[in-house]
Amino acid sequence: MMKKIAVLTTGGDAPGMNAAIRAVVRSAINSKLEVMGVFRGWWGLINEELKSFDHRSVSGIINQGGTILKTGRCPEFYTAEGQERAYQTIKKHSIDGIIVIGGNGSFKAAHEFYKKYKVPCIGIPASIDNDVNGIDMTIGADTAVNTALAAIDNIRDTATSMERIFVVEVMGRDFGYIALMVALGGGCEEVIIPEKKFDLEAISHNIVQGSLKGKMSWIIVVAEGAARADDVAKKITEITDLETRTVVLGHVQRGGRPTAISRDLALNLGKAAVDCLLKGDSDKAVAFHHGKIGTVDFETAIKKKELGIEDMYNLLKILT
Ligand code: F6P
Repeated sequence: MMKKIAVLTTGGDAPGMNAAIRAVVRSAINSKLEVMGVFRGWWGLINEELKSFDHRSVSGIINQGGTILKTGRCPEFYTAEGQERAYQTIKKHSIDGIIVIGGNGSFKAAHEFYKKYKVPCIGIPASIDNDVNGIDMTIGADTAVNTALAAIDNIRDTATSMERIFVVEVMGRDFGYIALMVALGGGCEEVIIPEKKFDLEAISHNIVQGSLKGKMSWIIVVAEGAARADDVAKKITEITDLETRTVVLGHVQRGGRPTAISRDLALNLGKAAVDCLLKGDSDKAVAFHHGKIGTVDFETAIKKKELGIEDMYNLLKILT
């Protein structure tokens, strides 16, 4: 029987993680479970950095970006020794189930750990990249897109006024979701994403053709996983002989107050994760998919994501 659970955040932080922690802790307490907060992700299990949480432990955090539990990437958790130490911490504190808030890297680690030790584990998808397979939206992705979009809108003002070409680099390691959302919402002229081959000669040719017709400002959005803004800008200047400017939005996209969508997702998924553990589910993530809260097996969640990228890309091409 489930009596005590632990919650941790791992991988890159995402706005809304705190709201998810709050939902887990309060739903667990509401269901008469004890709950422990584990600090610094898997590190906290390996090094026994955890403490009991009560209702008040998660007060005043719903609107804060980042994670009060701290987070990080932990290669040690992939070693047999690291896993064994984590397991000993779980046994010592009589923890019956774990809730892992993170992205697909976190779920990969959780899946391996489950296969070996069979400690019930449920994931809550949180990543600005929205790169978890089998689900529509991760916690934090909507916030990151809105942050990047606000920056693009600002850049548009100066790009138009000074008739310049801007190359703006956004986050997104293997998945072009942020870049595409921002390019669509910001009315940008080009997007470069990891999923699509790109041709800087062709882009430069379009710019020259456009300028002959009087179009003097451009915003080209680049996902960091596809190319670096500086290299793209240099090449465009080389080919077109036109001046370019670059902006790398970087970690600005990771912080900030979670949007209503990120919070709502976090609260619903947090409660759903506790319910899953209570009914004996394991080795899966709670998920918002096709407009409903459900689950997706870790095995599926960690596969390469396919999510209407083609459709978004085609829409951009039509609307530009
Ligand atoms: O969490 C996802 C992400 O923000 C990616 O978009 C990015 O490539 C990576 O994390 C950056 O990682 P770090 O914060 O370790 O530099």
